[in-house]
Amino acid sequence: MQQQDLAKKAAGEKATEFIKPNMTIGLGTGSTAYYAIMRIGEMVSSGIPLRAVATSEQSEQLARKQGIPIIPFSDVEKIDLDIDGADEVDEHLRLIKGGGGALLREKIVAAASAEMIVVTDESKLVKHLGRFPLPVEIIPFAWELTFRRLIALDAMPVLRTNNGRTVVTDNGNYILDCHYERIKDPVALHQQLNDIPGVVENGLFLHYASRVIIGYADGSVKSLS
Ligand code: A5P
Repeated sequence: MQQQDLAKKAAGEKATEFIKPNMTIGLGTGSTAYYAIMRIGEMVSSGIPLRAVATSEQSEQLARKQGIPIIPFSDVEKIDLDIDGADEVDEHLRLIKGGGGALLREKIVAAASAEMIVVTDESKLVKHLGRFPLPVEIIPFAWELTFRRLIALDAMPVLRTNNGRTVVTDNGNYILDCHYERIKDPVALHQQLNDIPGVVENGLFLHYASRVIIGYADGSVKSLS
């Protein structure tokens, strides 16, 4: 296993120590959340009663494979703990998410959770958000107009593609990756982006994380809260 994966594993597994029996867990998306899901699978196999909701089709499939009971959102009274990764984390525990394209479901689950623990390695820690391109999920209808609105706001948007094909999210939408280099006012930008008709959600998570667990390749972790 590579150094960075060891760090991700350490963080993902550490977060599961905050899980108590009978909790409903929000399962994040990405290569760090993966390790938390795998560990939760082991907990379920060992007889700890848990249930979960997933933030992507990919995580749902992984969870089902591990035997984690996935419940429909109609049956969710509360989500006790959401464990998810991030693409950037600043010192105020504000995040950029959506590198894996799951930002909308991730934000819905984070907003519905009593607590959100972010799991990451130290490469994601930044002084200022923005070096990682900010994902903005938009509806396909007239997407070129939404694209131009973002150009007018100096967002330098790029339509996300994969092997020459437009990436379509689990929700049937497109993603524009916006290039700022440094986001001076994340609160104002969040509002400005979500005010554009056609924008469904953006990848700024400004007040959801209550704890960030940073993993290191030697298996140690540091916790910020
Ligand atoms: C998925 O859309 C993202 O928000 C991920 O949580 C984020 O990209 C972190 O992924 P990794 O843990 O794979 O870096």
